[in-house]
Amino acid sequence: MPVPVYKSVFRHVFSRMDPEQVHHGVVTGLRIAHRCGAGVLLEKLTAPDPALRTQALGMTFPSPFGLAAGFDKGAWSVLPLAALGFGHVEIGTVTAQAQPGNPTPRLVRLVKDRALINRMGFNNDGAARVRRRLERTTRRIARLKRAGRHAPVVGVNIGKTKIVPLEGAVDDYLRSASMLAPVADYLVVNVSSPNTPGLRQLQDIEALRPLLRAVGDEADAAAGRHVPLLVKISPDLADSDVDAVADLVSEMHLDGIIATNTTVSRQGLRSPAAEVSEAGAGGLSGPVLVERSKEVLVRLRGRLPQEVAVISVGGVVTAEEVAERLRLGATLVQGYTGFVYEGPLWARRVNAGLMELRRMSLV
Ligand SMILES: Cc1cc2nc3c(=O)[nH]c(=O)nc-3n(C[C@H](O)[C@H](O)[C@H](O)COP(=O)(O)O)c2cc1C
Repeated sequence: MPVPVYKSVFRHVFSRMDPEQVHHGVVTGLRIAHRCGAGVLLEKLTAPDPALRTQALGMTFPSPFGLAAGFDKGAWSVLPLAALGFGHVEIGTVTAQAQPGNPTPRLVRLVKDRALINRMGFNNDGAARVRRRLERTTRRIARLKRAGRHAPVVGVNIGKTKIVPLEGAVDDYLRSASMLAPVADYLVVNVSSPNTPGLRQLQDIEALRPLLRAVGDEADAAAGRHVPLLVKISPDLADSDVDAVADLVSEMHLDGIIATNTTVSRQGLRSPAAEVSEAGAGGLSGPVLVERSKEVLVRLRGRLPQEVAVISVGGVVTAEEVAERLRLGATLVQGYTGFVYEGPLWARRVNAGLMELRRMSLV
């Protein structure tokens, strides 16, 4: 769907519908199209150029640009999403126990800012079900690779079950890690969502150290190999706390950091104050995150050894912005909100733009 067509559909149809219903409709459409064989056709149009291959976390990513966590919480549509050109798809957040998430409405658009506010609350059907789905996906990915076709890297992002108290967090994460590490190319410990009460306290170093150690050991033991482990942090951490997480990651020889999640701040928005307050509580995402996300990236890169991956996420829309993150030291770049506003050919445009910048020797 060319950009003007998607923008028109967005303006006249999607923007009048509940955002979560649009999300389900679009994902269902993608899956049906993929099942009907559109994946093979799409792939010809969207598969990233081999020149974009990027080595990170001990693997080859087909492109440095991937889909951030939250879009496919249950590994329902990894291959249809990859067929749109994403080099990796990070599924989740998955919790050990299935849970419904917060009451709806829980996803709101701020169109003037091309932003979203979400308070989804980790709605997902639990680690055991997601594992079964990922087992099937992994078999299909192996077949794609054997056929020399575009195959994504699949990250799995795990979080705490809401009803489990913070004192029980380590055991809860361990259940998810042991079930999901065997089917993950990399694993992410999410301690930065603002929508699970208390979760962000796990970013405190004294809580984070034992959590990461236990999850890392469990993941490797369950998978029988080293599963790259990353931690995802909030843009709302103070600089000194960002530094402390970076130092912890270095000290523990962790594989990387994903920066950043959504913010609880409402600074820098152009949407009318009444619209913002009506949107309610939750994590804000989109271009309003750009400045803080870049600051955190630069801070992390300046403090971490080169071999530690930094995956930069927060507000990127264009290939130029992805290229800028790479120049600032990101190993890989992710996005989510841009997908909602730019449409299904977003990843393809970013990949094509990155190739163009390469030809001009700007990346
Ligand atoms: C609707 C929605 C749901 C999200 N759910 C998750 C989630 O479950 N786990 C997670 O780590 N991040 C989640 N995120 C955060 C994104 O992965 C990303 O870090 C953030 O939105 C900033 O990137 P963006 O500006 O490109 O959207 C979610 C974001 C949105 C908009």
